[in-house]
Amino acid sequence: MKKIIAVLLAGLMLAPSVFAAKKISKKTPIGVSMPTKDLQRWNQDGANMKAQLEKAGYKVDLQYAANDIPTQVSQVENMITNGCKVLVIAAIDGSSLSNVLETARKKKVQVIAYDRLIMDSKAVSYYATFDNYKVGTIQGDYLVEKLGLKSRSSSDPVYMEFFTGDPGDNNINFFFGGAMDVLKPYLDKGVIVCPSGQTAKAQAATLNWSTEEAQKRMENLITANKYGPKASKLDAVYCSNDSTANGVTNALLSAGYTADNFPIITGQDCDIIAVKNMLKGTQAMSIFKDTRTLAEKVVGMVDAIMQGKEPEINDRKTYNNGTGIIPSYLCDPVFATVDNYKELLLDSGYYTKADLGL
Ligand code: BGC
Repeated sequence: MKKIIAVLLAGLMLAPSVFAAKKISKKTPIGVSMPTKDLQRWNQDGANMKAQLEKAGYKVDLQYAANDIPTQVSQVENMITNGCKVLVIAAIDGSSLSNVLETARKKKVQVIAYDRLIMDSKAVSYYATFDNYKVGTIQGDYLVEKLGLKSRSSSDPVYMEFFTGDPGDNNINFFFGGAMDVLKPYLDKGVIVCPSGQTAKAQAATLNWSTEEAQKRMENLITANKYGPKASKLDAVYCSNDSTANGVTNALLSAGYTADNFPIITGQDCDIIAVKNMLKGTQAMSIFKDTRTLAEKVVGMVDAIMQGKEPEINDRKTYNNGTGIIPSYLCDPVFATVDNYKELLLDSGYYTKADLGL
């Protein structure tokens, strides 16, 4: 008897979810909700998603929410009212969609969290993103290597400040968390000194990942800690992404740093501005996350759901949104510098030479 129950249970666990088993008419539009047009990558994400979904024969309702939470809530509400049965959402704030998504769940609308995990909602069926923890460890490992931290001691420390992204974005736990897992031992030993003392995630956070906010905070840090090429030493600034790196870079340029003595700045996304800064020598590295690949994976997920099949999943342990583990597909982030940008960004057709001003 026990055996039979075990076999039945195993069968149930393997069975596709109830909703996924039903085919959905191809005439039903797919809702795609993006956070903002202000940050470069979401324009690419939105455009890629729309183009690839349309190519697969779907109608698309693509909306950008201008980084305004009520706008995103009402856009998602409208998608549900307009009959979307699958929603792809990159949340502005991971925790502010619970109510509207409860309506979605009641209407058996399937939700794919795009790039950023949507928290505290049972409506989230799947999550597609990059390996966000790996993004953080690549950034951290780069700083260890570039600053020669392994062979330094507290009598020969490096001076560093820290910037991460929006506190409502679950990804910062992984970017900042991954980088700190690598860097914290050096902070603890006094090999890295953070003169402002602002090493906690909340202190390093940047509202809306805003370039202007990051610039303002860096300007304040420069004033308070007297950083400058001829003043107090600053070796590096950890930045979780390119929009914050850009603000930090602007502040350092105003403080008189030049390519020859620029602190090491990390980033992520390979935004056009960041690639230009890498070429100028004012940003050291970035992470390439090919948004075409992410869109392709998400379109694959949408297609599977629409056909009543189970989407491709490669991670069932990392992302818990507060209601349980969300089955995920993690794409691979790639380390980028001036040494490999041509192959990654130009040869692959991601950017043209003209995009980069070359
Ligand atoms: C994304 C990053 C991006 C940041 C700001 C994060 O959720 O994963 O790629 O730089 O948002 O747009």
